[in-house]
Amino acid sequence: MLESLALKYDGQTLQVIDQQKLPHAEVWLNGTDPLKMYDYIRTLQVRGAPMIGVAAALSLACYAKSGATAEQVIKMAIHLREARPTAVNLMYAVDRVTELARTGFSAQGVEDIAVDIFKTDETLCEQISLHGANLIKDGEQILTHCNTGALATAGWGTALGAIRKAHEQGKKIHVYVDETRPLLQGGRLTAWELAKLGIPHTLICDNMAGMLMAQGRVSKVFVGSDRIARNGDFANKIGTYSVAVLAQYHKVPFYVAAPFTTVDALTASGKDIPIEERNPKEVRGEMSPQDAPVYNPAFDVTPAELVTGWVLDNGVFNKDQITSGEFLKR
Ligand code: MRU
Repeated sequence: MLESLALKYDGQTLQVIDQQKLPHAEVWLNGTDPLKMYDYIRTLQVRGAPMIGVAAALSLACYAKSGATAEQVIKMAIHLREARPTAVNLMYAVDRVTELARTGFSAQGVEDIAVDIFKTDETLCEQISLHGANLIKDGEQILTHCNTGALATAGWGTALGAIRKAHEQGKKIHVYVDETRPLLQGGRLTAWELAKLGIPHTLICDNMAGMLMAQGRVSKVFVGSDRIARNGDFANKIGTYSVAVLAQYHKVPFYVAAPFTTVDALTASGKDIPIEERNPKEVRGEMSPQDAPVYNPAFDVTPAELVTGWVLDNGVFNKDQITSGEFLKR
């Protein structure tokens, strides 16, 4: 049995919490069918870079256990890989399954890989959380963007995991949560997680971050990532880049936290990271003219020069260690 805040797997059935319904309703969806899992990932009912990889792999395990052949599993894996283009964790997880299906397929083998991806992510979150918490001092006021917690991973989360660990260490911290337009992962999901954990927090609109920094109310920024390029540039939820620019202007340390499954050594720099564009309806909502032209990139790229430190599972790295490639060693 595998269990996290967003996912349950009992060896037969895979269930995932519908993150579009949170925080108002806790609805569990059956994710055993990988075709349905594709839809859940596309619609962000299942979301967060590590979680989409974990959920895709487990749905492939269910498929293999239902009697699918190696060829069918490979075809489905290729389909799932295309559900979202930016988070490289999805490609990492699906490619591990495809590799096995090509070299020595068995349903048990696929399940072992999927379970390993889940359990490894739990451990990676723990390591990231500890490294990140070491950077957080008593009394800090931390700003975060999007949702990087237990809903987005198999474990405690990445940036939010560090915040949670610092809180558990007894440090008195306060978290400013960007609501994260247009889909409100901060307002709906991070605020919900922080409330459940009893961590003091304040929800703000994305466009308030600058004012808070000018008022001296933000001492550090922690965000997650969907893909970190070899030069340290990284993609994360749209709005992250603006926060990084503001943080540099106001001399607020800015940290990105992620596991190695988010690092893409094959991508040289941020300009090579594919950025997902989503449905205009997400931006229009119900209030704008329904024919208003829209541009809706789901992610932006923050250049390495704006990052104070990369909090990875194998330690905290500075710009020099990124440039030398030290962060890639394990
Ligand atoms: O579109 P989403 O909600 O999947 O975007 C999620 C993010 O941008 C997170 O910050 C990122 O995946 C890291 S989750 C640990």
